[in-house]
Amino acid sequence: MALREVRVAGDPILNKTFRPLKEMTERISMLIDDMFETMYDQEGVGLAAPQVGVLRRLFVIDIPEEDEDGNETEEKHPIVFINPEIVETSGEVTLAEGCLSLPNKVANVTRPSHVKIRALDRDMQEFEMEADDMLARCILHEFDHLDGHVYSELATGPLWDIEDVEEDGDTGMVRLKTDKGAKKKESRKRRRRRRL
Ligand code: NI
Repeated sequence: MALREVRVAGDPILNKTFRPLKEMTERISMLIDDMFETMYDQEGVGLAAPQVGVLRRLFVIDIPEEDEDGNETEEKHPIVFINPEIVETSGEVTLAEGCLSLPNKVANVTRPSHVKIRALDRDMQEFEMEADDMLARCILHEFDHLDGHVYSELATGPLWDIEDVEEDGDTGMVRLKTDKGAKKKESRKRRRRRRL
C-alpha cells in the first residue's frame, strides 16, 4: 500500500464528472487499498477517487465508532462504493462539514438526513444500504465529488478556518469562537472528525 497525494481546491480534477468503473482490476484494487491508507493517514472518514486524481466513480468510507465516553474506538468499518446511485433521500439536517480537499476549512451544510444508496462492492457485487446521521452525510458528500461538486457550494454560511470555530455539542454545527484563546483546549478535546 502507499499514500496518495490528495488534490486540493483549485485542482480542476475536482470539478469534473467521472465515468463508471467497468471491471475490477489489480490496479483498481490497489487504488482502493491506497485510498483507505491515505484516508486513515489524514484522519478522514471518507475519500473519493477524484480526490487522489483517479477519474472513476468510486469512494471509500470508514466512520469511527465511539465508546460510551465519546472516544473513538480502533475498530475499522471500511466500506467501498463503486458506481453508486442515490436511490432516495429524505429529511434535512444542518451539520458541520469539512473535506480533505479543502484543508483546515469547515462550514455548516444542509443535506438530507437519510439516504438509500445502491452500489457495487469490491467484488463488483451490487448492494443497497440505508444510512442516517454521519454515514448519510458522508455518502452524500463523497457522491458529490464524483460529479465534480464540493461541499462549499452547499454551505449555509461562510467557509471558516477550523481554528476560528467551536462546535455546538447539541446540534453538531459550528460557530465562530467568542473567545479564541480560552476555547482552544476545549475544542481540541471534543472535535469530531468530519474530513470527507
Ligand atoms: Ni470531500
